[in-house]
Amino acid sequence: MYENRIEFDKMDFTQEPPVEEPQRQYYYIARARAYVKAESERLGRPLTCVVTTFGCQMNARDSEKLSGILRQIGYVETTEEEQADFVIFNTCTVRENANLRVYGRLGQLNRVKKKHPHMMIALCGCMMQEPEVVEKLQKSYRFVDLIFGTHNIYKFAELFVRRLESERMIIDIWKDTDKIVEDLPVERKYPFKSGVNIMFGCNNFCSYCIVPYVRGRERSRNPQDIIREIEHLVADGVVEVMLLGQNVNSYGKTLDEPMSFAALLQEIEKIEGLERIRFMTSHPKDLSDELIDVMARSKKICRHLHLPVQSGSTRILGKMNRRYTKEQYLQLVKRLRDAVPDISLTTDIIVGFPGETEEDFLETMDVVEQVRYDSAFTFQYSKRTGTPAATMENQVPQDVVTDRFDRLLTRVQEISAQTCSRFEHTIQNVLVETVNDHDSSLVTGRMDNNLLVHFPGNESLIGKIVPVKLTECKGFYYIGECV
Ligand code: SAH
Ligand code: SF4
Ligand code: F3S
Repeated sequence: MYENRIEFDKMDFTQEPPVEEPQRQYYYIARARAYVKAESERLGRPLTCVVTTFGCQMNARDSEKLSGILRQIGYVETTEEEQADFVIFNTCTVRENANLRVYGRLGQLNRVKKKHPHMMIALCGCMMQEPEVVEKLQKSYRFVDLIFGTHNIYKFAELFVRRLESERMIIDIWKDTDKIVEDLPVERKYPFKSGVNIMFGCNNFCSYCIVPYVRGRERSRNPQDIIREIEHLVADGVVEVMLLGQNVNSYGKTLDEPMSFAALLQEIEKIEGLERIRFMTSHPKDLSDELIDVMARSKKICRHLHLPVQSGSTRILGKMNRRYTKEQYLQLVKRLRDAVPDISLTTDIIVGFPGETEEDFLETMDVVEQVRYDSAFTFQYSKRTGTPAATMENQVPQDVVTDRFDRLLTRVQEISAQTCSRFEHTIQNVLVETVNDHDSSLVTGRMDNNLLVHFPGNESLIGKIVPVKLTECKGFYYIGECV
């Protein structure tokens, strides 16, 4: 495990770089570090960087790895993008809007870079895995210094050095990989909670989704590596982990010694000092009875499950290649609720998938009525080039999509306000995360089910799990008092 123990300044990088990972990256970190040191001595100030993340929690975790490497290289993180010496965008391409935001932000940066030509700009993440995107960048965004993808993020230090030694835009994108590099530096955003990758990639190929194309084939980390990482995190003050994967329920299938996700959870549960376990995302088709059983018996797994339904119409689910029916989904919800009473369920829903009729949409509304989610992320279908759904006939007109989307959102929010209030006047354990932004006599924390609670307290509570009486529900959050 990487423990800030490597003495980069004493490393001899006049020799050839090692071939093995992660030693090779340590070598490049040392080289980059020498450059940053010389440069900041010349300027008489530290060099600064900004890591901007778009997209999901996987990307957020990847960004923590980028931050970890940048810190070891010698950069100091800042929030002032316009002043920074190094800016990196870790991009998302799951919906068209995600891409548009990146291009918008790049346009702004171009204006800044014209004034500060020494500024270095790097792009990485899912959007870079799309050849059309890279082509467009090469043509119209020549001011970008470095472009890499999702599979070679661990090579960031090496690519950085390559850019220093060349005057040209560096582009390195891999189609796929079967490699997982362990033990690189990470800079956590929160001292008390952390994401932990348990698997990478996705093999599901839901017909609307770009993720399998940009994140590659499914591969799981070895359980020993995961446990070791969590043990180190706990020793470093972490009390809550979020296990990350596009489909955590199929964890372990590709390992030399296959292991189920439920079995992994049981191992993680044993780690002393760890208090809360979360995970996402769960694909309904792979959610096993074994997992439900483990959740029911666990003292650490949070009573919350994000279970994306996407659509309530069995016909549309078929076209989406989700491989479950409306009835199977509802059955699953029933089994979960029987085993774990009070479990909070959240979901993702897509409106306007090609061919969706009013009847199909009403099936989705029906699932929402029946399940009564604590919250739901609702999305308008977005056409992703290269996915099967992009070429399907009967794309739904925008005005119809907007109308359905508004109806769905209204109902989701009404139900959510009602279900969330069911904990009013109970006592719940809350992990305190911050001093309240608006009122410094309050702190803000999260319940087991991820809902926010504001209550009187001070900084000393941050990172602690405390019992809180929930005095009032304010829709999507609570006001409480320590007991
Ligand atoms: N692996 C996760 C989802 C990752 S993407 C899972 O299977 O649940 C997050 C969400 O984005 C998806 O659940 C889906 O609701 C939404 N999404 C993905 N592709 C989309 C598209 N083309 N248009 C609209 N929403 C999309
Ligand atoms: Fe996309 Fe489906 Fe994989 Fe989730 S499970 S990432 S929605 S293909
Ligand atoms: Fe976006 Fe990539 Fe995540 S496309 S949602 S950042 S896996």
